[in-house]
Amino acid sequence: MTDHTTLETELLARIEATGDLATLDALRVAALGKSGTISLLLKSLGSMSPDERRANGPGINALRDRVAAAINARKAVLEAAELDAKLAAGRLDLSLPAPPRRKGAVHPTMQVMDEMIAIFAELGFSLAEGPDIEDDFHNFTALNFPPKHPAREMHDTFFFHPGPDGERKVLRTHTSPVQVRTMQRTNTPPPAPWIASGQEPPIRIISPGRTYRQDSDATHTPMFHQIEGLVIDRNIHMGHLKWTLDTFIARFFELDSVVTRFRPHHFPFTEPSAEMDVQCDTSGGEVKIGQGSEWSEIVGCGMVHPNVLRNCGIDPDVWQGFAFGFGVDRLGRLKYGMPDLRDMFASDVRWLAHYGFSAFSAPNPASGLS
Ligand code: DAH
Repeated sequence: MTDHTTLETELLARIEATGDLATLDALRVAALGKSGTISLLLKSLGSMSPDERRANGPGINALRDRVAAAINARKAVLEAAELDAKLAAGRLDLSLPAPPRRKGAVHPTMQVMDEMIAIFAELGFSLAEGPDIEDDFHNFTALNFPPKHPAREMHDTFFFHPGPDGERKVLRTHTSPVQVRTMQRTNTPPPAPWIASGQEPPIRIISPGRTYRQDSDATHTPMFHQIEGLVIDRNIHMGHLKWTLDTFIARFFELDSVVTRFRPHHFPFTEPSAEMDVQCDTSGGEVKIGQGSEWSEIVGCGMVHPNVLRNCGIDPDVWQGFAFGFGVDRLGRLKYGMPDLRDMFASDVRWLAHYGFSAFSAPNPASGLS
């Protein structure tokens, strides 16, 4: 019996002194495991005489129960301590500043497009769209390009391989085909719901979109953006065109007035044709609009050629109109000072973070442009 008392005292002392769950489990195995000290004592009952067994059995069983209870109690204490330590270490300090989040930015081209759309919407223009993949008729023929016009040639236009019918589709080289799609009144529905179907004059639309040419340098990229404008009504003349563009430019650059000049030019789809320049100053590496002695070309324009009206089924003796085409990326470059047009499409997030706009500064006529 004394043996058992010593064993028990010793075991209980060791259990009480255990500081971690792994050691406690090792103790449990050493005492109550298959060949643990107490298990061996229990086993020894089998080889005793009935009298001895009666004398020793209850004591050994009670010993086993007390040791098991002590282990469980210690286990509960150690587990609670472990949980407390975990909770203390993982405590959240709610007063800490939140980690910085990556912010997206609105691309300057999209910002400029939205600004332009907001201004033209105020002037009473609605939006029209056309497909990026065009056919020769809409991109060239209907717009009065002569059959051998150099703009149709490979160095300018991205042509697709000819289809089974021999037709070569193109990536549209400008947004002017949307003029044709808007003026044409056909019985066939447009190829996609967002593509303008023809409408009766009077017409007042702008058409923003992507355009493509085989060209790449600091001021040209193979994909770029244009906004086309078209007005068809009775008694329309160059004065309307000039007022519209002057008003637009002053609003766009957020100036009371800007000095512009119209230079005669040639486009197959307008007669007369012009390019409009805006007065600017580029000395000091920064573009300042409305001052200085330099001119920057901003927009091609003119009075819609009677052949174009005829090609779209509109009688030029009744209806006249003007049209214009802006390079959006170029205009953005002038307003926000990006040095190289190619950077605009390089997908460099550092560039975007620098030149991009907050999504909260969406331009609208009431709150200002940017
Ligand atoms: N389509 C011309 C271009 O890409 C721009 C242009 C010029 C559009 C005159 C027009 C216009 O509507 O009247 O260079």
